[in-house]
Amino acid sequence: MILSPLTALLVLLPALVSAAIFPPDTKVKMVDPKGFRRAMKANRTAVVAFVAPWCGHCQRMAPEYSKAAKNLHPLVPFYAVDCDEEGNKRLCGEQGVQGFPTVKVYPRGNQGPSVPYDSGERTSNNLIRWASRSVPNKIKSLPKVDDISAWVDKKNDLPRVILFNKDKKYPLLWQVLGNNFWQKIAFGHHSDPEGESAQSLGFGPDGKNSKVLVYPAGSNDPVLYQGATKYEPLIKFFRAVANGTADLTTPTTAAPPKDEL
Ligand SMILES: *[C@@H]1O[C@H](CO)[C@@H](O)[C@H](O)[C@H]1NC(C)=O
Ligand SMILES: *[C@@H]1O[C@H](CO)[C@@H](O)[C@H](O)[C@H]1NC(C)=O
Repeated sequence: MILSPLTALLVLLPALVSAAIFPPDTKVKMVDPKGFRRAMKANRTAVVAFVAPWCGHCQRMAPEYSKAAKNLHPLVPFYAVDCDEEGNKRLCGEQGVQGFPTVKVYPRGNQGPSVPYDSGERTSNNLIRWASRSVPNKIKSLPKVDDISAWVDKKNDLPRVILFNKDKKYPLLWQVLGNNFWQKIAFGHHSDPEGESAQSLGFGPDGKNSKVLVYPAGSNDPVLYQGATKYEPLIKFFRAVANGTADLTTPTTAAPPKDEL
């Protein structure tokens, strides 16, 4: 039998449909057991939806879940497992999946128990709020400038990093990094709306909204982080800080970098 192009397409269609409950440009990553284990090894907060392609609630959730994934990218990765796939059934069983969809957050990958979604209708806003709230908070708030030296001294055996910014709160980005590097790097936050505290430590004024000061393990002399205060460059830098390969030789007395704008 010779298949017309259309018939060939129809023959292929069921397979395509089953994979496609999420929109084509989605940030949701479909994983198999190997991908799931790799994701869990990273010790990050990750969200996983266990779905079946025929399930109506899954199809209705998919655009909302995808929107939440986009909103929290790259801070909190969103995954999905197709529990209809033969090779995934055991994983879905191990994860206690009894109905579809089952959405769970793994606050530190496989370092601790997962928590099922419990925040009402599965809208993108609810999913975003729930996932953000699930990131373990390892940030030490240092409200007064005097709190800084005491904390820096107490945690002297670890590298320490402090975010100075204009806001009372630190961003989710900082909380995510604090969780990722928990027990490897100690994270602090100091609200410094006028930049006075940073200046008293020898940094600024340079018109920047936020600064990251780094204290190498064993030293109480801070170094100013020079890169962009964004997720990818920060995570790369902190990996190097954690494994001791970061270049932290800039002396504190160096002239502050000039504003480029
Ligand atoms: C995750 O945490 C465990 C236990 O603290 C540690 O042994 C492992 O190296 C960590 N993995 C990563 C990628 O940081
Ligand atoms: C240390 O971390 C950096 C940044 O991730 C990496 O490029 C480097 O290979 C690591 N070195 C060692 C010795 O682990």
